[in-house]
Amino acid sequence: MSYQVIARKYRPAKFSDITAQEHVTRTIQNSLRMGRVGHGYIFSGLRGVGKTTAARVFAKALNCQKLMEDPEYLQRVTEPCGECESCRDFDSGTSLNISEFDAASNNSVDDIRALRENVRYGPQKGKYRVYIIDEVHMLSIAAFNAFLKTLEEPPPHAIFIFATTELHKIPATIASRCQRFNFKRIPLEDIQKQLQWICDAEHITVEGDALQLIGRKAQGSMRDAQSILDQVIAFSAENDHEGAISYQGVGELLNYIDDDNMFDVTDAVAAQNPAKMLDVAQFVIRNGYDEQDFLEKLVEHLRNFLVVQNLGSTRLVERPDAIRERYLRDAGNFTPFLVMQMVDFLLLTQKELKFQFEYQFRFELALLKLIDIVHIASSAVTPAAVVQPQKKKPLTSH
Ligand SMILES: Nc1ncnc2c1ncn2[C@@H]1O[C@H](COP(=O)(O)OP(=O)(O)O)[C@@H](O)[C@H]1O
Ligand SMILES: [Mg+2]
Ligand SMILES: [Zn+2]
Repeated sequence: MSYQVIARKYRPAKFSDITAQEHVTRTIQNSLRMGRVGHGYIFSGLRGVGKTTAARVFAKALNCQKLMEDPEYLQRVTEPCGECESCRDFDSGTSLNISEFDAASNNSVDDIRALRENVRYGPQKGKYRVYIIDEVHMLSIAAFNAFLKTLEEPPPHAIFIFATTELHKIPATIASRCQRFNFKRIPLEDIQKQLQWICDAEHITVEGDALQLIGRKAQGSMRDAQSILDQVIAFSAENDHEGAISYQGVGELLNYIDDDNMFDVTDAVAAQNPAKMLDVAQFVIRNGYDEQDFLEKLVEHLRNFLVVQNLGSTRLVERPDAIRERYLRDAGNFTPFLVMQMVDFLLLTQKELKFQFEYQFRFELALLKLIDIVHIASSAVTPAAVVQPQKKKPLTSH
């Protein structure tokens, strides 16, 4: 049997399986119930958050025979039945009522003319033909203009769904003729749940923290998360961990800069210990980590300090429990003011590093300078009080 990648195998087949985009799916389902379906839609948002998936489910629902013939089912369930002939055609990829058009590679005026020609013909079976135009922002202005007329007077059977990661690049003339849906980044918790569900279905044992690591790396994209999971599964099998996926294994595979490395930095600052800081810098350089990446993680790390300092809890810190405890413990090592100073400095450094040649050397210097920032700021503002632990408020871990 051929191996199917997870992202395809687990593509949701109905609205209710699409995670974290209820604001979109609910509105579409309502319009189906009321029989008020528009002709133009824009689905915008990051890659891998469900735009194509939602467009396909929508197309399937529009042509589902059960939805068309059974008003009670339409009102109560409002999902493609998955069993009628049309739904089966969709599921097997043979339906003629859906066309996917990749604007990144077909973006000439001629391509659009061919599409327009195609749009004129109604469906042989079913009610609607749905055209999904992916990466629509890649169309040239001339191509957009060629399309405008079709969008102004669409044939009754034609529905256009424009998907884009860059909403601002779509001309207002097109955007104003469409209903717009903004797909959200998928929250870490939802990604983690979905990955867990997939692992269960695949009979793969996995540590919850390992999935969280994958989810964090994916930064809100479900497809990225699933691709990483594919990679991790292959890696774990190869390394004969009996297929089980561990936090450490994932960390190794992703060459992940660990939270420990981040705490090493803040520890070195708190201890005012340049030797320790140089060790950290060397560690990053020796292991071939990306310096920019490291600085970005460091900013996120400091952000977690600020969150804990301001909330008095780690409710908004997406980390395993042991790490959360550590944030609670260390939050008192600096004042929020100092943390902000460090953040400002790091953001500036990130920008500057982009134009530097002596990259590694500058990186090392920047880390060393963090110690000074705290030192100078603390002697200028409230001598000594800053580096030493603040009086601790009672903090809770959730
Ligand atoms: N909101 C979501 N809920 C569940 N799975 C999703 C979601 N978004 C993406 N996926 C998974 O990622 C894959 C790619 O999603 P897709 O809809 O093609 O993303 P895009 O937004 O780039 O069009 C899907 O096959 C599915 O497995
Ligand atoms: Mg897509
Ligand atoms: Zn059906």
